[in-house]
Amino acid sequence: DSSDSEYDNDSDDNDDKPRESVAALLEPENIDGQPTALEEVVEAAKNVPKPELRKEETDEVKVKILKSLNEGDLSNDVAKPFYVPVNRLESVQEARLKLPVCGEEQVIMEAIRNNTVVIICGETGSGKTTQVPQFLYEAGWSHPDSDNPGLIGITQPRRVAAVSMAKRVGHELNLPGNEVSYQIRYDATTSSKTRLKFMTDGVLLRELSQDLLLTKYSVLIIDEAHERNLNTDILIGVVSRVLRLRAELSREDRKKIKPLRVVIMSATLRVTDFTENKTLFDKPPPVINVDARQFPVSVHFNKRTPDDYVGESFKKISKIHERLPAGGILVFLTGQNEITHLCKLLRQKYPSLPPKASQKEKKAEDQANKLESQTENLPNGQADIENEDVDIGENDEIEEDFDLESDEDDTDIEEGFDDEELGESARDAPLHVLPLYSMLPTEAQLRVFQPPPEGTRLCVIATNVAETSVTIPGIRYVVDCGKAKDRKFNVETGIQSFEIDWTSKASADQRAGRAGRTQAGHCYRLFSSAVFDHEFEKFSLPEIKRMPLEGVVLNMKAMNIDQVVNFPFPTPPPRESLYKAEKLLQYLGGVDKMTKHITEFGEAMSLFPIAPRLAKMLIIGQQHGCLPYVIIMVSALSVGNPFDHDEGQRQKNIMTFISETSDILTLITTVGAYEYAGGSDSFCRDHGLRQKAMTEIRQLRRQLTNIVAANFPGVDICVDPKLNPPNKKQVKILQQILTAGFIDSIAVRADVLEAGGGKGARHKNASGVAYKLMWSNEDAFIHPTSVLYIQEPPVMVAYSELTQTPNNTWMKGVTAVESKWLCNLGKELCTYGRPLNYPLPKIIGEKKDRRIVHVIPNFGPKDWPLPAIEV
Ligand code: CDP
Ligand code: MG
Repeated sequence: DSSDSEYDNDSDDNDDKPRESVAALLEPENIDGQPTALEEVVEAAKNVPKPELRKEETDEVKVKILKSLNEGDLSNDVAKPFYVPVNRLESVQEARLKLPVCGEEQVIMEAIRNNTVVIICGETGSGKTTQVPQFLYEAGWSHPDSDNPGLIGITQPRRVAAVSMAKRVGHELNLPGNEVSYQIRYDATTSSKTRLKFMTDGVLLRELSQDLLLTKYSVLIIDEAHERNLNTDILIGVVSRVLRLRAELSREDRKKIKPLRVVIMSATLRVTDFTENKTLFDKPPPVINVDARQFPVSVHFNKRTPDDYVGESFKKISKIHERLPAGGILVFLTGQNEITHLCKLLRQKYPSLPPKASQKEKKAEDQANKLESQTENLPNGQADIENEDVDIGENDEIEEDFDLESDEDDTDIEEGFDDEELGESARDAPLHVLPLYSMLPTEAQLRVFQPPPEGTRLCVIATNVAETSVTIPGIRYVVDCGKAKDRKFNVETGIQSFEIDWTSKASADQRAGRAGRTQAGHCYRLFSSAVFDHEFEKFSLPEIKRMPLEGVVLNMKAMNIDQVVNFPFPTPPPRESLYKAEKLLQYLGGVDKMTKHITEFGEAMSLFPIAPRLAKMLIIGQQHGCLPYVIIMVSALSVGNPFDHDEGQRQKNIMTFISETSDILTLITTVGAYEYAGGSDSFCRDHGLRQKAMTEIRQLRRQLTNIVAANFPGVDICVDPKLNPPNKKQVKILQQILTAGFIDSIAVRADVLEAGGGKGARHKNASGVAYKLMWSNEDAFIHPTSVLYIQEPPVMVAYSELTQTPNNTWMKGVTAVESKWLCNLGKELCTYGRPLNYPLPKIIGEKKDRRIVHVIPNFGPKDWPLPAIEV
């Protein structure tokens, strides 16, 4: 009887013991030859004529037996059956039974019952996200009367997926109320009735900082674990500890808090980071592989790799639509701007409704399109760190005209289709074009799941959200630009940005697979096979490897995870780097030196999706009208040097904008002048500036301005990109703000250091005047491209970047610093004297008391800190 072990529930039990199977329980050892009371019950259960029993009744008996065994109590207290009837629509039931995961329901449920952690691997579209929560629901998890009344929680890395999956599962379970809800950062449908809760992993992490035991939940599904987002990784690490705590607690007080169950779901097979990591789980969790039916997909590479992949997609879609048989098209681009642009082009060329469409249909279409033009109503354009569409570094160049007609590539698109098929091409059918990206309003997102209007061809233009998180029905053709917008970070500067770059081979194959869900399909890659072979990594790096660790550590501290060095990361960063990151945060004032807790200042820094040192500069930057300048500095530091590479030329160009004290301030003047010139190409050409870098700086400025406006109510924000150069007083303040941000990157002239603060003979050689780096005591020189290279060398400088050549260490992004500022701004460093052997305050000979006078005042979100900046 296959239902035997299916609906009982013994998670009340101690987690360390292996569970006895129901069969074993039904044959207890007879100790003294006499039937025990228990055996009588067992006997009775065995003798119940099975066919007449409803499933619920057999369950009742089983539960009763199990309860008796556990509690040594044979009262009439009959536990509620753990079976929740569901009235699915017939069409839904039919469709779900075709999903591969439904064939594994029993195996999956058995595994979840018998293990605290279970990993489920299965191809995208096999039904993991929509079905596993339903299995649990039907088996009584989250039922108020069951032994596991806590919620079923499901986390998603993306908001689109959290919302659309909640709606889908609610629909499949035929529960129109809010039993199935979602919660994303600015929107929630949860209520006291909620039983299944879909949410982004960011939301659950925030909940964790309030309730470390996750007492609300009885089972947690962590979905899309293969993406290796930072949030998902941290979540898995924290949850591995929550599991232990819950197990211990439930031993003491079984009634109140039950052990937690965790299901990790992943699209690809690379799960060894979870199973082989011994610090993570007590024993390696079982892995259940779900076989997926996948139809063959022919992959077609371009012969060449065009730069303008948006234009290239347009051509390819036109060709598919005009020449190839019916079937939906899914196009992968990297971000919102590109997607809306391509949608516009396609809609112009192929009107979306069939000519005979009714007025009503036309109206609905208009309304739907209007939806698209709205963005999610986030407060003040708040950037959402959870979504993949953060538009830092968005590439505007796609707006340039491209040649839509010319074409040397792939004239053989019809190859592989037989004539009969081609005869049925959808040539004259209208194209139903839909965008899909995470800032799109929810309703507009959900349109991709509805069948396209009769007689039209579906064409969805999506970010990599359609790679594994959501499966769009009816796709036969995939057009893949091969790129994705990802968080990148510059190892030298620690500055992070979002950049468009090639995805991995694993991702490209996932994308191709989307074409083979319902029939054999085709994937058109808009790049050559040589590029694929040589420039694509095998897998994408986990996000934790792509982020500055100090940002990771600050995020974790904001979630009250203080012991970062011992944290069970699925892919642990080197301990030494974690230690350094924590130290840097202490110096920046974001983490308390003694308690290791995040400070209020640190909490303010963690609000910004940028490196902590840059966040610090923004926070302290709002004095004397400096904030707009600080925003430029931070943007320019994030984007990188906008001057052309030719160094001789650069020296000449830079003279126009020069600030005598800082390379970074020189950038402010440059950006200001560029905006006054209307941001023109010719301005960039004349002054040796890279056009692309300048437009990126402009975009980042706009975005940071929005973030600041959202986070600092009441602060004056300058929205006009044109900005007069800072006045003298402001220049001094800006230098100090830079010092505060790069407090760990200070160098002192070697001669002054040796002379104990006085003047000595300058150590000058062909490389210039020698400096000592205060961290490492290493020698370094000001790089010849710095504006300070041609000035009288300041006694002390801050640098934003170090580069090494075989003979020298060079400082770039240099700013002159006054020693007395350090005592104000680098309180942590100045009091560190001994252990770090940090000679600064003593040698420079500041008055002793200055070292400790300055205390950053308490401040809250409205009342920002004004550290002692000298005017
Ligand atoms: O999670 P996994 O990738 O394994 O699959 P899933 O997201 O549960 O999708 C299972 C099936 O449900 C797919 O065939 C989807 O096309 C379909 N689905 C749908 O038709 N409408 C939705 N809103 C969500 C999923
Ligand atoms: Mg899924």
